[in-house]
Amino acid sequence: MTTAPTRETDTRAPSVGTARTRVEGREKVTGAARYAGEIPFTGLVHGWLVLSTVAHGRIRDLDTDPVLAMPGVLAVLDHRNAPRLNTDFASLLGMRPDPTCAVFQHDRVPHRGWPVALVVAETSEQAREAAESLVVHYEEEPHDTDFGADRPDAYRADGIMPAVTEKGDLEARLAESAVVLDAEYTTPEEHHNPMEPHAATAHWDGDRLEVFDSNQGATWVVGDLANLFSIDPASVRVRSEHVGGGFGSKGVRAHQVAAVMAASVLRRPVRVVMTRRQMFTLIGYRSPTVQRIRIGADADGRIRALEHRSLSATSTVFEFVEPSSGVTRVMYDADAHRTENRVVRLDVPSPTFMRAPGEAPGSFALESAMDELAVACGQDPVALRLRNDAERGPVSGLPFASRRLSDCFREGARRFGWADRDPRPGLRRDGRWLLGTGTAAASFPAGVAPSTATVTAHPDGRFTVRIAAADIGTGARTALTLVAADALHVDPELVHVRIGDSDFGPAMIAGGSMGTRSWSWAVQTAAREVRERLALGTDIPAEGITVRANTAEAIGALTPAERHSFGAQFAEVAVDPGTGEVRVRRMLGIFAAGRIVNPLTARNQLLGGMIWGISMALHEEAVRDRASGGLVGADLAGYHVPTHADVPRIEADWIDDPDPNDPVGIKGIGEIGVVGAAAAVANAVWHATGVRHRTLPIRPDRVL
Ligand code: MOS
Repeated sequence: MTTAPTRETDTRAPSVGTARTRVEGREKVTGAARYAGEIPFTGLVHGWLVLSTVAHGRIRDLDTDPVLAMPGVLAVLDHRNAPRLNTDFASLLGMRPDPTCAVFQHDRVPHRGWPVALVVAETSEQAREAAESLVVHYEEEPHDTDFGADRPDAYRADGIMPAVTEKGDLEARLAESAVVLDAEYTTPEEHHNPMEPHAATAHWDGDRLEVFDSNQGATWVVGDLANLFSIDPASVRVRSEHVGGGFGSKGVRAHQVAAVMAASVLRRPVRVVMTRRQMFTLIGYRSPTVQRIRIGADADGRIRALEHRSLSATSTVFEFVEPSSGVTRVMYDADAHRTENRVVRLDVPSPTFMRAPGEAPGSFALESAMDELAVACGQDPVALRLRNDAERGPVSGLPFASRRLSDCFREGARRFGWADRDPRPGLRRDGRWLLGTGTAAASFPAGVAPSTATVTAHPDGRFTVRIAAADIGTGARTALTLVAADALHVDPELVHVRIGDSDFGPAMIAGGSMGTRSWSWAVQTAAREVRERLALGTDIPAEGITVRANTAEAIGALTPAERHSFGAQFAEVAVDPGTGEVRVRRMLGIFAAGRIVNPLTARNQLLGGMIWGISMALHEEAVRDRASGGLVGADLAGYHVPTHADVPRIEADWIDDPDPNDPVGIKGIGEIGVVGAAAAVANAVWHATGVRHRTLPIRPDRVL
């Protein structure tokens, strides 16, 4: 037994706030890090998903016999022989499970690209060959994939927030307003395709189900798989140490469910990996939106009436609502204030959460409308936002725990050189290019959810932290290392953080920008208790001293308040009126996003979001073919995203933003970077050209 080398008072400089490269970075760049699709297994077999080639109808028959006779083929699972699933349960945060993942339960085909079978074979190549040979007979029915503002079958729907909020007499306030703006904005179907495709390996170890997976939360996957297969969650273990991107798409999907089915039937380890093209129909995406904004304001730009209505699409399988009007519930107050989310059901795949769900398209509409209002009132766009900064939640009436939106604008305007801006459009030239600048506000909720963390002090002075966190590429594991080090008063080099294992106890997912905040709270709580015990001079036995903490109670005691991150986005663009090409020349985002744990990875996160905003403004658009009901160009060649050449001088920075009620002080930075970014670019395009683009993306043919 040895005594711990901890000090009672911390004399070392804090680790939180210092720039650190990823603790697992070397493993990742040397290939030592194993992802879900590459973990070696003895006796591993491979499943390949077969997707429907029609957009609506029924499966009449599947010619499985010839496929079963092919080399290496072990089984074909379809709706006739697959294990039955239970889909009646409360999933993550009480949400209904998305039955899109409940594959092979019926003969109906709700959209093109619906999983109709899984072919399992000894090798991945044999499985693919057989899957592509499987003949499926359909009874085809007419499909309807047409999205638009004029759908009579659209209806109000709640999703993760109430469908409607309203206060005051909107029409009366609009009627008496000096300036009235009424505009419609549309955003296209957009896809989040992480670099690492969705992959899962499932196997039964006796009566224990083990899944190696690429997900945003092991707790989530365990819960849903246990419920779907009606098994005890204690006999399911999900591991997901390294994840190559998620963005909302890596929950429970067809591949994990199919892999568990096949592993159950064959009693062998089964791996199912999606192809890039399959991902375009199986992992969810962001619905297209049509949004209408009406603003009534005084002549000086003070908003008196504000309405934001959003329409999105969902599948016939699952009601997912893109909550685009939610951003308006936080950003600007008005005597009369109304927001509404509606949805229409189409024969398309189920949409899902995609980075800044709601806020990303919602802020495009709202912050474009604010720019239009600034022009209509003859006000500077920054001054207009300062004038309308809300003091309380416009809908909740709650005070903001902190709201440094105006400070973000002041700091951003100073650094961007906004003061020199001539507000008139279409005046600046650089050779053939028209130049313009634009700005937009950003916000994202700062939520937190209960998590469990375990911290062990070892006799050699080292510490192990265990938490079922998911590092989806954000640097969360490194952030947790710094948080633990500070709570323990030791150097981060002495702290080993283990993540991505459901055996570490329930924890929040990497989602809703809530991961690092939620996990840090639990890690800090457990680590502080370890330090307190060690400070008493306790001897550390060989097995170490372990403290487990769960934050459910502490989080429940949080003072009710509006908690959000805020930000100000600035962009400069050059537009070639001859070709319609838009180039972003520089971009600056200033954020008030709580305590920043690791400036290096935080900056990367924010820049990643802002680049996604450029992408949303100029590149991304999934095109659905009416005739087939499928996507055109559903791969990373056909689906446009920015390359390095499209990304300009771009900078993200932040101002202090403490939350006195939160012991960790983190707000989360996963999503706010994308919020407002597309509007800032679109507003800059207006300033360059004098033409307002209310439809994204701003393609060359739309500029001409
Ligand atoms: Mo995010 S869209 O909450 O993964």
